[in-house]
Amino acid sequence: ATGVAGCGSLDREVSGELLTSAARLPKPYGTPLPIPRTAVPVRTAGGVDRYELVQRVAEAEILPGLKTEVWGYDGTFPGTTIAARSGRQIVVNVRNELPAPTSTHLHGGIQAPASDGYPTDLVAPKGYRHNPGGPGHGGGHEGVMHVAPDDWTVTRLAKDYVYPLDQPAATLWYHDHRMDFSAPQVWRGLAGMFLVHDDEEEALGLPSGERDIPLMICDRAFDEDGALRYPSLDPSLTGEPGVEDAYMEGVTGDVVLVNGAPWPELEVAAARYRFRLLNASNARRYRLALEPGPREGASFTQVGSDAGLLAAPRSHDELPISPAERYDVVIDFSRYPVGTTVTLVNRIGEGSTRRVMRFRVARAAKDDSRVPRKLADVEPLAASAAVAERQFDFRQTQVEGMKVWTVNKKPFRSDEFLARPRLGTVERWRFTSDFHHPVHLHLAHFQVLARSGGDVLPTDGGWKDTVDVRPYEVVDVLARFSGHRGRYMFHCHNLEHEDMAMMANFQVV
Ligand code: C2O
Ligand code: CU
Repeated sequence: ATGVAGCGSLDREVSGELLTSAARLPKPYGTPLPIPRTAVPVRTAGGVDRYELVQRVAEAEILPGLKTEVWGYDGTFPGTTIAARSGRQIVVNVRNELPAPTSTHLHGGIQAPASDGYPTDLVAPKGYRHNPGGPGHGGGHEGVMHVAPDDWTVTRLAKDYVYPLDQPAATLWYHDHRMDFSAPQVWRGLAGMFLVHDDEEEALGLPSGERDIPLMICDRAFDEDGALRYPSLDPSLTGEPGVEDAYMEGVTGDVVLVNGAPWPELEVAAARYRFRLLNASNARRYRLALEPGPREGASFTQVGSDAGLLAAPRSHDELPISPAERYDVVIDFSRYPVGTTVTLVNRIGEGSTRRVMRFRVARAAKDDSRVPRKLADVEPLAASAAVAERQFDFRQTQVEGMKVWTVNKKPFRSDEFLARPRLGTVERWRFTSDFHHPVHLHLAHFQVLARSGGDVLPTDGGWKDTVDVRPYEVVDVLARFSGHRGRYMFHCHNLEHEDMAMMANFQVV
């Protein structure tokens, strides 16, 4: 009962999927939604809050009655949530007690290169011998083709990541970014939510406290004994038909987790709730919807996108979400009679991945939250603001007889730069692709200007840091390079594509 289902083709929504033994599949909605713990600073000095996260191996009960080994920030999956304030610098000390090196990236954060979690900027655990030419942990090639021997930085045991947070309220997240191993390491659990708050956002009166809930959505597959399955970590998968294709297209599993629990249930009051939706999957995309929809009005009122609040709320009945994208939405459960169960479904899922989680409207309640018509000042960028135009093609190419994922036909090289934007300027970047590639820029937030020369999606609004470039589509964005100079990267956020070197550098000058 294990293996890979389906076959790969560009127009299939999901191709090969790793399967969990049917006997082990939990019954949906049997687990209450877990809420990750929120970090408390270990100390505050000179107005800077200091946090400590310890990466370690831990056991979690994800499938009822079974133990799953996870790699977690603070030993949990998702990791501890960090809730910080705009304009107030924090330091996060990440200590590595795992059996492998890591690099932590604050996704959507505007931080200096030294704190950006560059893939070769490693935090190495005790006893780890850095040997970039040799075999890596997981049997990989550890940067052999992509990194010059002197382009590694190895920090022992722990590293301070400095986050100035000179950016508005937003739903960010942090995750592992180790060269060649981000996909298996995130699959094992190395990801957490990171919320930025500010005064303007808090003055809006949006649902808050227990009615402001992060939902980290991702898919996984499990062995008979509860272990996470992943091609390069699971010898039993080697040589199975379809595994190669599944790996090329990105690894997906048949169990959908929300905050680390399979198809959980949340009991809600008949009131408005704010949900920070994150797709933390390695490769799976979802098209989220509510079933049934509300008696009146749209299912979701979107108040924010990847990098901050929208200028004004937008209504949607469906939210297409690709890996690493976020939607900050309000759902109004007072539009349902008490006693209703409302399922968050995935309209492009098949079988077990068609459902995500369930809400049970349990009681009437007082609600003094609101969604004002104006949310934040979002300066719409005009195409004429761009001082340069560049084009990047995300495509599979043959390099020395091997199929590889590339940007402009080049596999990643840590010492090559595909762009040198000037600090403080706006550029127009055009992405083309042969497949679904969720393109993510570090540092620079952007606005989506056009899809194949025409309209953008209703869900493309606001400041973003990740955009799903769909097969054979041309996506134009206006990106602002501000905050810091230096080396940053952009890449496909399908984590298997990323590990297969679909990444590139830009240098802010
Ligand atoms: Cu969320 Cu470079 O990644
Ligand atoms: Cu990709």
